[in-house]
Amino acid sequence: MDGCYDMHCHLIPGVDDGSGNLEESLAALRQECGEGVTHIVCTSHIAPGEADAAAKQKEQFEVLRQAVSQSDLSGKLELYIGNEIFGVGSVTESLNEGLIHTLNGGHYVLVEFSPMETFRHIEQVFRSLISGGYLPIAAHIERYECLANEKNLAALEELGVYFQVNTGTVTGKFLSRETRWVRKLLKEERIHFLGTDSHGMHYRPPRMREAGEWVEKHCGGGYAERLLHRNPEQALRDEII
Ligand SMILES: [Fe+2]
Repeated sequence: MDGCYDMHCHLIPGVDDGSGNLEESLAALRQECGEGVTHIVCTSHIAPGEADAAAKQKEQFEVLRQAVSQSDLSGKLELYIGNEIFGVGSVTESLNEGLIHTLNGGHYVLVEFSPMETFRHIEQVFRSLISGGYLPIAAHIERYECLANEKNLAALEELGVYFQVNTGTVTGKFLSRETRWVRKLLKEERIHFLGTDSHGMHYRPPRMREAGEWVEKHCGGGYAERLLHRNPEQALRDEII
């Protein structure tokens, strides 16, 4: 269980609605360590068209990395930069212009939509990204109404879209529709990545261990190993999963 990857969180200080300052970021990273996480992809929100956002995020990311190297966390954590991109029509152009961070500078990109977004739009955005040579990951797929339709979900799989779910949904209440659905998809081995989607210590502090243990117990060690380690490791090396 230890040595896990958090593929989705908002822990760069002061750049989005995540961690508000360096102290909060370090506290959240300390908690990540306690949760068995050693590799963290910082995926701040970004919308195509925000010209200076990516540069500011990179600057603050380096401030965070430096602070980690001078703290008790030194040598315990590996940090990577990415973005959680709001999926609008111009996303591929903005990526091509270098205005958005891909995951660790490779071809993988984490993309989110409004919960009520139409399938037609979601599919168009993913088609555009794939045609542009990117490897898109749908962020927290449990949020989108239209993906609860099996036909739509299968169509995205067919396209080659990867799926991420939030750890909090895996360990949610059994009566929650999202939790039951996500657990079913995990048992079918259709999810590629887990993320805490932590926004710091004030909103959704990072939790990984319980979700990882649920997967190990209910989905088998082989799949847990792929989900928690091998898939993210390969994605961050820019290798095809
Ligand atoms: Fe997020």
